[in-house]
Amino acid sequence: EEGLHPTQYPWEHVKLHKTFDHQALRRGFQVYREVCAACHSLNRIPYRTLVGTVLTVDEAKELAEENEYDTDPNDEGEIEKRPGKLSDYIPAPYKNDEAARAANQGALPPDLSLMVKARHGGCNYIFSLLTGYPEEPPAGAVVQEGLNFNPYFPGTGIAMARVLYDGLVEYEDGTPATSSQMAKDVVEFLNWSAEPEADERKKMGWKVLAATLALWGISVWVKRYKWSPVK
Ligand code: HEM
Repeated sequence: EEGLHPTQYPWEHVKLHKTFDHQALRRGFQVYREVCAACHSLNRIPYRTLVGTVLTVDEAKELAEENEYDTDPNDEGEIEKRPGKLSDYIPAPYKNDEAARAANQGALPPDLSLMVKARHGGCNYIFSLLTGYPEEPPAGAVVQEGLNFNPYFPGTGIAMARVLYDGLVEYEDGTPATSSQMAKDVVEFLNWSAEPEADERKKMGWKVLAATLALWGISVWVKRYKWSPVK
């Protein structure tokens, strides 16, 4: 059963001549950390990936050090704890899927790293999902015990409740943290996490186009030059 078709939003970062807005990525990461990370992992992102686009080196190091990781076993086979470093991955909220389900009435909060790519509708779908919880389910809707009504979720009954409310986070850049602002920022961040290389790819694309045009121009000139004595 398909969900309600999400609205198509004019995402800036998707445009070929635009890149991710780093300020938006910072805000989106803040929303991930302060809201989503309570239930959702971001398995594919090591701290080093955040450097340069989302965080400074020092910020990323500091954040990594807030968590403890296992050392490699020493000669006696003992494993100890050490503070995190840039090469470590952002830790998951739960030990394993079983613990995650136990904490969420049997439902598994999926890893968010590739979610923008994994779900039909991508950014539009996740934005619509996050902002699409009505105050009350519509008259006549059947909502299973423990589930929440969301018209964008296939089947309309979703184990995740509404999580974004106006003012939930406080942005360091002073942007008002409305529900839709937070949803937009976290979606943009999740698009970045799904393809951190997207900006590079776009820039490379333009270089390839420029080089191709230059070679084409030269070949036109050479052809005319070589053939010019022929009447
Ligand atoms: C599912 C995003 C916060 C628990 C999902 C899905 C997305 C998502 C995209 C997948 C929906 C689908 O399968 O199509 C987010 C974002 C969050 C957030 C961006 C922060 C802004 C939370 C929090 C919790 C939570 C705080 C726990 C309290 C769940 C659960 C599911 C889920 C249990 C599985 C739902 C089901 O299959 O019925 N979330 N989530 N999420 N989320 Fe979240």
